[in-house]
Amino acid sequence: MQIGVISDLHVDRHNQLTPKDYQAALVRIIQKRQIELLLIAGDVSNHYQRTKQFIENIEINAQIKVLFIPGNHDFWSAETGITSSEILDTYIKMDNCLIDQPYVVNDEWAIVGNTGWYDYTYANSKFSLERLARRKYYGATWQDKVKIDWPMEDRKLSAIAAKQTIKDIEKVKHKKIILMTHIVTHPKFAVPMPHRIFDYFNAFIGTSDFNSIYTSYDIKYSIMGHVHFRNTFEENGVTYICPCLGYQREWRTSDIEQEIDQAMHQIVID
Ligand SMILES: [Fe+2]
Repeated sequence: MQIGVISDLHVDRHNQLTPKDYQAALVRIIQKRQIELLLIAGDVSNHYQRTKQFIENIEINAQIKVLFIPGNHDFWSAETGITSSEILDTYIKMDNCLIDQPYVVNDEWAIVGNTGWYDYTYANSKFSLERLARRKYYGATWQDKVKIDWPMEDRKLSAIAAKQTIKDIEKVKHKKIILMTHIVTHPKFAVPMPHRIFDYFNAFIGTSDFNSIYTSYDIKYSIMGHVHFRNTFEENGVTYICPCLGYQREWRTSDIEQEIDQAMHQIVID
């Protein structure tokens, strides 16, 4: 089976192109590469209805199964009229969303997913927890602070996300696992430090709460997004993949199809 993986599409952040243009380009790449199952590791858009619609349109137009986990942007509640928790409920009701429902591919393989959440451990240790919890540095505010209204603090959310992920892995623990998160679970994907602002903002990039998962279960692939660096590496039998499309200003070309083709990673399983 040919599994395509991609993240951080941000379909509503391009100067000229619309979500429909992203949809058409993604469908063409799916067809060209004969992808049979698509995984999206979050940050489709800044509005849950747009995210939901986009995923449903890809399924209809490409005629394949699409599985996803929401990213932090997909939880933005400003301008939606509902809370981030209500947005989460909307996603969980979709059969495309992996949270609380691992996807069994066959006798050997299963896919488990959770957004995960950042726990501040990736920041430079010179910042106190109190300083990081302000989520504001050099006049810049981490936008989740104003756009998301979770009823608890970030570190607690990270611990709950890891616990939920373990609960889901337990349901399929005898299989080889493709794990998908939005938040970074390996520090190699953090922005390299020392860095003028990411010494601080790396706090909101990754989590250490998933560390024990890699030693306790048979994770073969670990897909994540959030940080807009495309990269793949292998460590202790796990292939870590960050297949992010990212913002237009981060692209090397102006051609959306070429960028999607370059960002999308392909996993082949028997
Ligand atoms: Fe993100």
